[in-house]
Amino acid sequence: MNKNKNVVWHNTEINLDMREKQNHHKGIVIWFTGLSGSGKSTVATELQKALFERGCNVYILDGDNVRHGLNSDLGFSEEDREENIRRIGEVAKLFMESGTITLCSFISPFRKDRDKIRNNLPIGRFIETYIDAPLDICEKRDPKGLYKKARNGEIKDFTGINSPYEKPENPELIIQTFKYSLEENVIQIIEYLEKNGYI
Ligand code: ADX
Repeated sequence: MNKNKNVVWHNTEINLDMREKQNHHKGIVIWFTGLSGSGKSTVATELQKALFERGCNVYILDGDNVRHGLNSDLGFSEEDREENIRRIGEVAKLFMESGTITLCSFISPFRKDRDKIRNNLPIGRFIETYIDAPLDICEKRDPKGLYKKARNGEIKDFTGINSPYEKPENPELIIQTFKYSLEENVIQIIEYLEKNGYI
């Protein structure tokens, strides 16, 4: 609910178009969704490096980090995840408007929450990227030991174990981290960005 009926939007003189001309690339949100341990942060980190080296203005918003600050008041219930993704969607929109290639790495398990972010951005600015790795592989990787804890009952509502994950139905990109190397994953994304005139 908007409690600020008497607040008027303020337009500034520098617009997105001007920023994009200066940057030589588009302002976009690349939204990585997938299970814990699927490789979202790893792919985002490597992609950030590749884009930064090309001179792009690029930044990562990551679930584990954002939950230390902005969203430290939120847990993993369905409502808290919804609010987590809603806030990040708003932050990502601000980054996009600043002309940044914004890499968002969140499990974001619910389709409706991801769709809201897509619908809150201009067409073509939201690149939903499904980081695809089967649950058994993520569980074997278990980089933070969280699957083990979830199986032992130490974590409730753990995605994939006792909380649902809804795959994207029509993502712009599907990145298979169990089939291809990290380098190949990054090349696939860069090629998509080039082909579609984003960079
Ligand atoms: S989301 O579901 O709200 O999108 P987010 O990406 O911010 O999740 O945070 C996920 C990270 O929090 C995981 O990578 C994992 O390290 C940690 N985590 C802690 N508890 C849980 C849980 N119950 N379910 C999923 N991830 C959890």
